[in-house]
Amino acid sequence: MERITLRKLKKKKEAGEKITMISTYDFISARLCQEAGIDSVLVGDSLGMVFQGLDTTLPVTLDEIIYHAKAVRRGAPDLFLIVDMPFMSYQVSVEEALRNCGRVVKETGAQAVKLEGGEEIAETVSRLVSSGIPVVGHLGFTPQSIHKFGGPRVVGRDEAEAEKLRKDFKVLQEAGAFMIVLESVPWRIAKDLTESSDVITVGIGAGRYCDGQVLVFHDLVGLYGDRKPKFVRRYVEGAKIFREALERFKIDVERGDFPSEEESYGA
Ligand code: KIV
Repeated sequence: MERITLRKLKKKKEAGEKITMISTYDFISARLCQEAGIDSVLVGDSLGMVFQGLDTTLPVTLDEIIYHAKAVRRGAPDLFLIVDMPFMSYQVSVEEALRNCGRVVKETGAQAVKLEGGEEIAETVSRLVSSGIPVVGHLGFTPQSIHKFGGPRVVGRDEAEAEKLRKDFKVLQEAGAFMIVLESVPWRIAKDLTESSDVITVGIGAGRYCDGQVLVFHDLVGLYGDRKPKFVRRYVEGAKIFREALERFKIDVERGDFPSEEESYGA
């Protein structure tokens, strides 16, 4: 398989072909993504919640995201690799953002970095792009601002928020972002933004008209979350299947049925 590049993703948009992206954090799931023909893997800072069991994405560190991104790159050497920049790794100053994003690209093999926010990060986006680092924006509900939003919610339902979303999108486009993730956004707004620009839109809870869709691996395979957000489609009840396997292992061991002779080494 040839590596998926930014050019290939742009061509897909131009040809009206949908882009698939999975947010994931480890070698095995990344390898499954590559085997399944997914276009792009994102090492999302959702790893704070899904992998580390935290309440928010905020505590995730740069070293942690780099550690996971290296594993994902090994599992999916040919997919377009995007790495989420953790909270406060790019907000303090443009210089610090450049240094941290540069580290991510150098150490992980990432082809792009993802930053949350609009107007307030425009200068950073522009400097990253002019330094040769492709940037993915993230608008709508942005989990790093969870305390500002007061919890996960749809963003853009009232006119003021919709206007801000459109403005931020335009600013990010002008700053050079080639892709923007739209999270929990009314589908009509996502459709307008997608159809009126060259920027690739990738939706999560933003309806079907985006150029691509992203889901968290563990959501998609039913391994995470007692509460399923409206926008998640579970393709398999992974937690149930795994739990049953573990229960059967426990019974087999306790009964002395595991390991069998075939599963044991002879003298
Ligand atoms: O952190 C993440 O996994 C993300 C995606 C859900 C877009 O930002």
